[in-house]
Amino acid sequence: MSILKVARMGHPVLREVARELKPSEIRSDAIRRLVEDMLETMHEYSGVGLAAPQVHQSIQLAVIEFEDDNPRYPDAGAQGLTVFFNPRITVLDTKEQGFWEGCLSVPEMRGLVHRPRKVKVDYLDVDARPQTLIAEDFLATVVQHELDHLQGVLYVDRIKDLRKFAFLEEYKRYWIPEEEDEVGELDD
Ligand code: NI
Repeated sequence: MSILKVARMGHPVLREVARELKPSEIRSDAIRRLVEDMLETMHEYSGVGLAAPQVHQSIQLAVIEFEDDNPRYPDAGAQGLTVFFNPRITVLDTKEQGFWEGCLSVPEMRGLVHRPRKVKVDYLDVDARPQTLIAEDFLATVVQHELDHLQGVLYVDRIKDLRKFAFLEEYKRYWIPEEEDEVGELDD
């Protein structure tokens, strides 16, 4: 396994619509190795998710995983390792929630993003079997952030009020939410 180089905002690969994979590709050794390397990369940088375009692979693949004991996301719950191929997202509840998001491709920044609070994701797993995930609250935001990457969209595109876009240091000094249940933080 190896830690992969992460593309930063400005690299064109982050703005491409990633291509779908065939089931035979999903089950290939090359893709299995890529998934392992993406997990190692995500863990190295303490992220909760990572999408293939962030490691210079313009394919429909994203991973998410987080524990329930992370002090930075006290109400987040846990999400076991989930690997999405060719995901399709459906909004189940259009009511929006705001989270301060971060991204490995936009280092040392945070921005307040509002997204639907409940979504459904239809995708293929590592064995290319169809699966469905219903995601609410923090998980819904993580999933939407990651799947946006596969469409060439970054969270900064979704910041409605650019006054709520800050360097990490200033975010910690001035914007750390007083009410954790209203606004959290995502660092992918
Ligand atoms: Ni990201």
